[in-house]
Amino acid sequence: MLKTVLTLPGQLLEAWERALAAPLPRPEVPPSHIVAVGMGGSAIAADLIGAYLAPRLALPLVTIRDARLPAYVGRGSVVIATSYSGETDETLAAAEAAVASGAHVVAVTSGGRLAALAAGRTLLRVRGGLPPRAALAYLLAPTLAVFEKWGVAGSCAADVDEAVGVLRVIATETGPDVPLTRNPAKQLAEALRDVVPAVYAGTPGLAPVARRWKTQFNENSKTLATWDTFPELTHNEVVGWGAPADLACRVAAVILLGGDEDAQALRRIGASRSAAIDRAAASVHEVRGRGTGRLARMLSLVFLGDLTSVYLAYLRGVDPTPVEAIDRIKQAVRAAS
Ligand code: F6R
Repeated sequence: MLKTVLTLPGQLLEAWERALAAPLPRPEVPPSHIVAVGMGGSAIAADLIGAYLAPRLALPLVTIRDARLPAYVGRGSVVIATSYSGETDETLAAAEAAVASGAHVVAVTSGGRLAALAAGRTLLRVRGGLPPRAALAYLLAPTLAVFEKWGVAGSCAADVDEAVGVLRVIATETGPDVPLTRNPAKQLAEALRDVVPAVYAGTPGLAPVARRWKTQFNENSKTLATWDTFPELTHNEVVGWGAPADLACRVAAVILLGGDEDAQALRRIGASRSAAIDRAAASVHEVRGRGTGRLARMLSLVFLGDLTSVYLAYLRGVDPTPVEAIDRIKQAVRAAS
C-alpha cells in the first residue's frame, strides 16, 4: 500500500495523458447538469473535482452515492458513473437507471459489469489491480479530461502539471526512508496513534479532502475517524468539545488549510480553537496544502493524509490493504438479492 500510495504523482500524470488521448464525444443534447455516481473511493474523485472546479464550472456537478437517481436526471443530463471494480451494486443500478433515462452516460472503470454496461457509450477504462482507494488518480483524471475536452471549466492542464510537481516533492519528503524527525506524515501518524482523529476542512472547498482523510483512516489504519467543515462546524460540532474530559481527550483535531483562507475564515478557526478545541483535544494539528493552484493544494493535502493513514496502520500493527468488512458486506448483500 505504501509503495502504491507513493506513486500518486506518476499515476496522475499517466492517467491524465491517457484520458486526454481517449475519444470523449460531447453529448447530443447540451447538458444542464452533471451527475457523478459512485461509492467510497470511486465517489470521492468526483467530489474532489467538484470542489477544485467550483469557482469556474459552468454547470452544476453533484455526486450521488446511491443506487437511485434524482427525478431530474434525463436527456439533458450527463451521468458519470465511476466504479473502480465495475462491480459495485449501487453504482451499477444508478448507471442502469441513467441509461434508461436517456442521459448521456460516461463510465470510468477498470472493467467488470460497468464496462459491459458502457459498451457502445463513452467508456474510460483505467488500469486495474489496485485497491480502489489507491487508484484515486486513475479515477479522477478521466472525469477531469472529460471536462477539459468539453470546455465546461476552462483548461486544467497547467494545474495538473503543477500538482504532479508538488506531489513529487512531497513524495521525497515523506517516504519510508525519511526519518521521523524530518517526515511530517510519520510525525502526524505518531501523534494520532491512540486517538480518534477529527478532521476539519478549513473551508468548504476542502470538505472532500477532509472526508478523504477520514475514509483513509477508516480503511487503511482500521480506526474510527470523523470529519467536518468550517464554518459549519462552528455552529454545532464545537459544542461537542464540551463532552466529558475523559472522552474529548481521546480525540485529536486535524485542521486542513488550503492557504487561501481569508482573514474571516482564519479568525473563525482561531476562535474555535481557543473557545472549544484546544483545551479539550488530545492534540490539535494544522496541516497546510502546498502549491499555488487549487488542485495542487487539494491533492497535496490528500497525499499527506493518505501517507499518514498508512504510517498509522504500521504503528497500530495492522495491514493497510485488506478491507474485509467492506468485502463481507458486499458479498452478503449480493447473496441475499
Ligand atoms: C476500497 C475502497 C472502497 C470502494 C467502494 C466502491 O479500496 O476504497 O471505498 O471504493 O467499496 O467500490 P468501487 O470503487 O470498486 O466501485
